[in-house]
Amino acid sequence: MKGYYGEFGGQYVPEVLMPPLLELEEAMETYLTESSFKAELAELLSDYAGRPTPLTLCPRLSQDLGFNLRLKREDLLFTGAHKINNTLGQALLAKRMGKTELLAETGAGQHGVATATAAARLGLSATIFMGAVDVERQRVNVERMRILGARVEAVEEGTKTLKDAINEALRYWLTNQKTAHYCFGTAAGPHPFPSLVRYFQAIISQEAKEQYLKALGRLPDLVVAAVGGGSNAIGAFSEFIPHKVALVGVEAAGTGEPGCYNSAPLNLGRPGILHGQRSMLLQTPKGQVLPSHSISAGLDYPSVGPEHAHLNAIGRVKYGLASDQEALAAFMALSRSEGILPALEPSHGLAWILANREKIDRGSEVMLCLSGRGDKDLDIVLGNLPLKD
Ligand SMILES: Cc1ncc(COP(=O)(O)O)c(C=O)c1O
Repeated sequence: MKGYYGEFGGQYVPEVLMPPLLELEEAMETYLTESSFKAELAELLSDYAGRPTPLTLCPRLSQDLGFNLRLKREDLLFTGAHKINNTLGQALLAKRMGKTELLAETGAGQHGVATATAAARLGLSATIFMGAVDVERQRVNVERMRILGARVEAVEEGTKTLKDAINEALRYWLTNQKTAHYCFGTAAGPHPFPSLVRYFQAIISQEAKEQYLKALGRLPDLVVAAVGGGSNAIGAFSEFIPHKVALVGVEAAGTGEPGCYNSAPLNLGRPGILHGQRSMLLQTPKGQVLPSHSISAGLDYPSVGPEHAHLNAIGRVKYGLASDQEALAAFMALSRSEGILPALEPSHGLAWILANREKIDRGSEVMLCLSGRGDKDLDIVLGNLPLKD
């Protein structure tokens, strides 16, 4: 059924939100296939955002691991993460739809910065909703958004993180739907957002596939990506799904202690409805949404995009776990062995690879989607891992 991935997906929204969702769906059908839209987006991605991103071999880590680890370098994109692939696409679409404002939610601040950037570049105004806890832990990104001209609204409801920011953004969209486009930041939410965000993030695996074929004449054996809402992961997986490539998404186990809060709905949740979609959800036995926790703000979300829930249910993608401490150790490992400071989100992906190294065949080709750079996380890393020298 349209808008569904197996039993997951859908449009569980109040009636008043249906008109802008239908308008968006129509705009996708009209503009995404238009050659002038494609050409304008391709130019923005190459000349402004810095695509194609390299595929970097990690020689020292690979020698230690016994297999080749290559990084798809989304951290080298302008603004420092994969989020700009999606915001430039959606900003361009919003312009075609005659909208004058972008609104967005953000957790780590990366999507907020990427939205503010795309809005500035294309002459749109921007309003960004961010949980008050995230405003505190991602201060630098908040200042970046303000400098770019965006209005940042700190959300004081609930756990004051991404979930609450999305609630507020949806509320704002209800009353401003004529002029505002909701630039959703991940491959989740009501249809058509999961497919729209996948469309713009698929460039990650489209490029990677070409790069593997050019460099090695074959595809990777395994692709690994961290999963928050699921946009970098679906972007890194999509082109490989029809092929014989193993795919692993990595969820945040939080402190990793049993019974403690985590951000791992695929491993530890049950089907439920949140933010307009039916997907896997962290919830109490009575269906109340549980607060999530991860050291990484970008993974701190109690649900996940519906396509991941489906890929998990049919066994096409395996979803592993990495804890806060394992991610911090992986952050240090990549910094010290390759000179690359990863964001804490993809550090979870690397942590899974390091923990599962014995299960990965020697000599195989492994790709990690390095979804962002670590500069935004330095305070958190230093607060948790004080350096001795
Ligand atoms: C660098 C980075 N990676 C990953 C994520 C997680 O989001 P998603 O699962 O949509 O890729 C975020 C979210 O802010 C991020 O900033």
